[in-house]
Amino acid sequence: MLTVRGLAKSWPGGAPLFEAVSLDLAPGELVAILGESGAGKSTLLNIIAGLDRADAGTVTVSGTVVSDLDDDERALWRRGAVGFVFQSFHLLPYLTVEENVGLPLLLNGVAAAERRERSRAVLEAVGMAATATRKPSSLSGGEMQRAAVARAVVHRPSLVLADEPTGNLDEVNAAATMKALRDAVKREGAAGLLVTHSTVAASSADRVLRLAGRHLGPA
Ligand SMILES: Nc1ncnc2c1ncn2[C@@H]1O[C@H](COP(=O)(O)OP(=O)(O)OP(=O)(O)O)[C@@H](O)[C@H]1O
Ligand SMILES: [Mg+2]
Repeated sequence: MLTVRGLAKSWPGGAPLFEAVSLDLAPGELVAILGESGAGKSTLLNIIAGLDRADAGTVTVSGTVVSDLDDDERALWRRGAVGFVFQSFHLLPYLTVEENVGLPLLLNGVAAAERRERSRAVLEAVGMAATATRKPSSLSGGEMQRAAVARAVVHRPSLVLADEPTGNLDEVNAAATMKALRDAVKREGAAGLLVTHSTVAASSADRVLRLAGRHLGPA
C-alpha cells in the first residue's frame, strides 16, 4: 500500500537529515515513528505526503509513484489519497465541525447531501456526533483532535498521516484519539503512519520504528 525506498534529505548547507530510509506498510497497518526532536520525523512525513521533496528515493502509494509527480499532479493526488492530521488541528474557525470534517469531500467534488451523510457517519465513529453543528472554538482539545482525525479519514484516503496527533492531550484523550485513528485505518484498509513522542500513542500501533542517526529502524 505504501512503499518507501531509499529516501534521503538534506537541507541546503546542512548535514544529511536522513538517508536510505525504506518502509513498507500493508493495508490496514498502523505504524508509529519515534525519534528525538529535530531527527527529521515531520520532514519525513511531509515528503511521504508529497508536501515536500526528497533528494533521493521513491514513495509509492497504491501503485502511484508520488515522487514522479509534478507539483499540480501531487496536489491532485494528495486531495484524494491522503488524510493528514496536523499537530495543531488546523480546523477552520468559521465552519461548523461537520463542515470542517466534510472539507476533503467538498474539495473532491462530493455533493452536499452525501458530504453531510459521510461527515456525520465519521463523526459518529469518533464519538463526536453531538458536536456536528458546533464551531471548533467550542470544543475541548481532545474533541478538536478527534474532529481532525475524522476529517483525515472522511474521504477514505489510502494513506493516513498524523504528526503528533496526541501532542497536547492527557492520557485518556490520547487513548481515545488513537483508538479513533486506529479504527479508521482498520475500517478503511488504509496505511496509517504517525509520528509521536508518546509511548501511550505508540503502544496502539501495530509496529513502532525509530528515526535516529539518519536511519529509520526498529524502535
Ligand atoms: N525548511 C527548512 N530549512 C532548513 N532546515 C529545516 C527546514 N525544515 C526543517 N529543518 C530542520 O530539519 C531538522 C528536522 O526537522 P523536523 O521538523 O523534521 O524534526 P522532527 O523530528 O519533526 O522534530 P520535532 O520532534 O521537534 O517535531 C530540524 O533541525 C529543523 O530545524
Ligand atoms: Mg516534528
